[in-house]
Amino acid sequence: MIYLIFYGILVLFVFLFALLLFIYSLFSVVAQLMGSPYVPTKQKEVEHILKTAGLKKGQLLIELGSGDGRMIRTAVSRYKVHGIGVEIHPLLLFWSHIFVRLQKLTSLPVESGSIIFKRENFFKTNVSKADAIFLFLMPNTLKKLRDKFINECKKNTLIISHGFKIEGWEGFLQHTIHHTPFPTYFYRILS
Ligand SMILES: C[S@@+](CC[C@H](N)C(=O)[O-])C[C@H]1O[C@@H](n2cnc3c(N)ncnc32)[C@H](O)[C@@H]1O
Repeated sequence: MIYLIFYGILVLFVFLFALLLFIYSLFSVVAQLMGSPYVPTKQKEVEHILKTAGLKKGQLLIELGSGDGRMIRTAVSRYKVHGIGVEIHPLLLFWSHIFVRLQKLTSLPVESGSIIFKRENFFKTNVSKADAIFLFLMPNTLKKLRDKFINECKKNTLIISHGFKIEGWEGFLQHTIHHTPFPTYFYRILS
């Protein structure tokens, strides 16, 4: 009897693990098809990028494709900005919410910033109020987002693209961090 219970629990765990793996893989394929695969920015680079961005307290940072939320979480806790992370992958969003709780970023006083993670296709995200936007996306996805930024962003919005250049935006380029293998490009919307 005891063996039966033991094997029952084991089978349940294996089943749950396989199910989670299946969901993770399924949504990874969806994310890849809808914009970019999941590759996290290294925490050391996150810190360097934020230092270079010079964000001010109370500004709004939006991350399109926020992964496990490390960029937004670091920006809110260190620089007291308002952060919005947009992600299509439900398990990555789940992790973001877990980390937010562990870091006690859930109910910050207004003057210490705020943090929101939402499940959304970033092509539909309204970016008109952003002071800065962070991206780590494939070049063809950046190309598709270019016109959206030009149409929606206010003047002086900082667009930070980690990994890849935004084609045709040479005139907006202000600064480059030459990390390997992924550099970071800082663009400013001028009009
Ligand atoms: C290269 S990863 C970058 C993750 C995170 N920004 C970082 O730097 O650690 C790209 C992320 O974009 C997400 N993504 C891809 N297409 C998307 C879409 N259309 N809408 C929302 N998120 C998307 C993926 O699930 C993935 O987490």
